[in-house]
Amino acid sequence: MQRTEIINLLSKTLSKPRFDHCLSVESMALELADHFHISSEILSPAALLHDLCREYSREKLLKLAAGFDIVVDDIEKAEPLLLHGSIAAAIAEKNLNINNSLVLEAVRFHITGAPNMAPLAKLIFIADFIEPGRTFEQARILREMAFKLSPDQLLLKVYNRSIEFVIRQGYLIHPRTVAGRNELIMKGVTD
Ligand SMILES: [Fe+2]
Ligand SMILES: [Fe+2]
Repeated sequence: MQRTEIINLLSKTLSKPRFDHCLSVESMALELADHFHISSEILSPAALLHDLCREYSREKLLKLAAGFDIVVDDIEKAEPLLLHGSIAAAIAEKNLNINNSLVLEAVRFHITGAPNMAPLAKLIFIADFIEPGRTFEQARILREMAFKLSPDQLLLKVYNRSIEFVIRQGYLIHPRTVAGRNELIMKGVTD
């Protein structure tokens, strides 16, 4: 699927602010692509499609998960919005003919992160948090230091800031986020 076709699909599916956010994640990721050793052919579809299903209702996400035979865990059952990455990856693969496993992984895990993510998935997870439309203090700080940090240092900071946010909001923490963060700590990465 060509970039223009994806843009066309997004413009029909998403609100203007969410559409702009997807473009902004793409630009942020493109800026950091060399730093993460990633080529733009796989970067753009992952960045653009990551929030394809972000505006679906909880009911629709659960229904689609059942239709795509996606295993829904207890945390996702309690907060089905967490499924918008898995559903977008399933739609990309089954309906849009996007078969690159790195792209699908990046779309699938962009909300929670996960252990053993490839560089593309790390980059999309990070770019989603620090794109210029994210005006909160922590995003601004990380955006400014992004090029000075190694990809894994940056990733750990995004995990930590995300977990802090989730705790402050009283939201559930998905175990994949904890596992992704633990993996980095065990590798000796520090915040
Ligand atoms: Fe998202
Ligand atoms: Fe996003």
